[in-house]
Amino acid sequence: MNILENDVERILISKEQIEEIEDRMAAQISEDYKDKNLLLLCILKGSVVFFSDLMRKITLPMQIDFMKVSSYGKGSQSTGNVRILLDLHREDFSEVDVLIVEDIIDSGRTLSTLVEYLKMKGCRSVKTCTLLDKPSRREVEFIPDYAGQIIPDEFVIGFGLDYAEKYRELPYVGILKPSVYTK
Ligand code: PRP
Repeated sequence: MNILENDVERILISKEQIEEIEDRMAAQISEDYKDKNLLLLCILKGSVVFFSDLMRKITLPMQIDFMKVSSYGKGSQSTGNVRILLDLHREDFSEVDVLIVEDIIDSGRTLSTLVEYLKMKGCRSVKTCTLLDKPSRREVEFIPDYAGQIIPDEFVIGFGLDYAEKYRELPYVGILKPSVYTK
């Protein structure tokens, strides 16, 4: 057992449940994108685990690419500004159907900003896909095109999600013990 598991209050979504969610999402995406030119876009770092599963489960040719963004003032007062730390440099924006892959949507600011940004770049289409969605935390209106599971407002970690850069490697989505972040 990974020593980090001592900090987990309980498992919210098991490895097996995640696998089922991913299979369902990948089947739907494979159907919806069969006549398109899919560019699967990973938003680092949290989505990397879900992304790597999804790209192997979608049964279509695709390209992959990566961006890294961060919200100013995250965790304290959010200004709603999103800073691009790793940008997308391509010459074929008008030829690709971008599907942005996220691990979680919280305030909605990251994805609403990214969708606008990629449309402004001239992408042929821009849609969004998230493993987890926390609609109760929205600060801006945002509905993803594909959502794996709606979750309550709990402090979730694992399967790519971190607290202070830890727990990303846990193979399930767990709820962190409050004692860890109230220390
Ligand atoms: C998380 C997550 C999304 C964003 C969602 O990333 O991966 O990108 O927050 O929050 P929002 O809906 O309130 O904008 P984070 O900034 O924690 O970075 P990380 O992926 O590197 O952990």
